[in-house]
Amino acid sequence: MKNTVAVGIQWGDEGKGKIVDLLAPEADVVARFQGGPNAGHTLVIGGRKTVLHLLPSGILHENTQCLIGNGTVVAPETLVEEMDTLLAAGVPVTDRLSISDRCQLILPYHRALDAARERARGAGRIGTTGRGIGPAYEDKTARRGIRLIDLCDEALLNEKIAANLDWTNFQLTQYFKTEPVARAEIDAVLDLARTRLLPLMDDVSSILHARHREGASILFEGAQGVMLDLDFGTYPFVTSSNTVAGAAMAGLGVGPGMIESVLGICKAYTTRVGAGPFPTELYNADGLDDPAGRHLAERGHEFGATTGRPRRTGWFDAVAVRHAVRVAGVTELAITKLDVLDGLSAVKLCVGYELDGERIETVPADARTLARCIPVYETLAGWDERTLGARSADQLPAAARALLSRIEEVCECPVALLSTGPDREHVIRFAS
Ligand code: GDP
Ligand code: IMO
Ligand code: MG
Repeated sequence: MKNTVAVGIQWGDEGKGKIVDLLAPEADVVARFQGGPNAGHTLVIGGRKTVLHLLPSGILHENTQCLIGNGTVVAPETLVEEMDTLLAAGVPVTDRLSISDRCQLILPYHRALDAARERARGAGRIGTTGRGIGPAYEDKTARRGIRLIDLCDEALLNEKIAANLDWTNFQLTQYFKTEPVARAEIDAVLDLARTRLLPLMDDVSSILHARHREGASILFEGAQGVMLDLDFGTYPFVTSSNTVAGAAMAGLGVGPGMIESVLGICKAYTTRVGAGPFPTELYNADGLDDPAGRHLAERGHEFGATTGRPRRTGWFDAVAVRHAVRVAGVTELAITKLDVLDGLSAVKLCVGYELDGERIETVPADARTLARCIPVYETLAGWDERTLGARSADQLPAAARALLSRIEEVCECPVALLSTGPDREHVIRFAS
């Protein structure tokens, strides 16, 4: 397999876990490069579901080496819990996993700040996952973050924790008027990280370079999606890291020469969790209730893998996907959840936006402007046949094939993979 970066190109939850797990047997290494436990990547194998938040989605394949890069933010208790669940199921996680010494740690005070800020924002909240992601990346950028390597220097670690806790508790109690975080709570997490994560700590960039030199193929696994990218998403309703393929390099310590292809993963429709503009939205838990949107939510079982929140649903937005294809340098598409469209009499594609009476073809930089955009739709025929579980293109109804061709045209990118159900086996691969 070519060295491939797999990224979500909508608002997350596109099926990255499924696609990475599917491709992992062809890769020698699977490496996560950004995000943290805000991610929830679902793998279904023979009907059995595994949800991963921090472990790379290649972890269920015994010959695949898994790496967690410096660009990720790691919550030690989440990672340990995830490792223990898999270890109890007989998966030899620790033999094949390395965590970058430069990884930033998410500590309890990050979650407390995340929650306090969201409460304070009220109706203007971002709808974060509450996992402390934003505050952890802020600490990184402010140069006061705690990295895994810091656990090796007790004195310095103590000093940094004391200073961070002082500053955070000041904000929590004085500004947000909420409870402070106790030092003991942090020490417990650090102890866990020391005993369970330090043995797995390594120089991930050097490992990747060595494996690359010996000819290993590498799959780079992104989290979230391009529309949640800190720069190219619907700012400020975004996550706190860059989610584009370019982030794989800074998030692992490799150069662009190592990347040979970029797989952009998207659903055959659109979903979003949390707040922020969503031009093609049809259905949400706040009362928007278009029947086609409800069909997508119900058939697609659209509930967040991390938070369980209902996802907002809508038609495929080719303007957003085309934007994502460009900014992430996507060379091939993987379309997921085609089967969820089964039974719809018509399927719509948003091929442009109308803004103040003018047609536009790109995603505006300003979220409020995007919220004013009205989708311009093309309507295609739907189908009654069942595509769920289809394994070859000739099992697809003509209308489904027509939809895929039109998606390729309007997104200016070929479709290499089509997912027709949640299971690892439910896939069609197209020759490039
Ligand atoms: P990720 O965050 O991108 O890995 O995606 P999630 O795991 O959060 O959400 C995708 C959901 O869709 C999961 O429940 C998957 O099991 C499911 N899924 C993935 N591909 C397909 C598909 O082709 N069809 C159906 N029906 N479900 C799918
Ligand atoms: P995966 O990897 C979907 C969303 C949150 C919120 C915004 C900011 O499973 O696709 P954060 O907690 O990151 O500060 O929240 O980003 N979000 C996701 N939405 N899938 C994800 O990950 C997400 N990770 C964050 O809902 O709108
Ligand atoms: Mg997810």
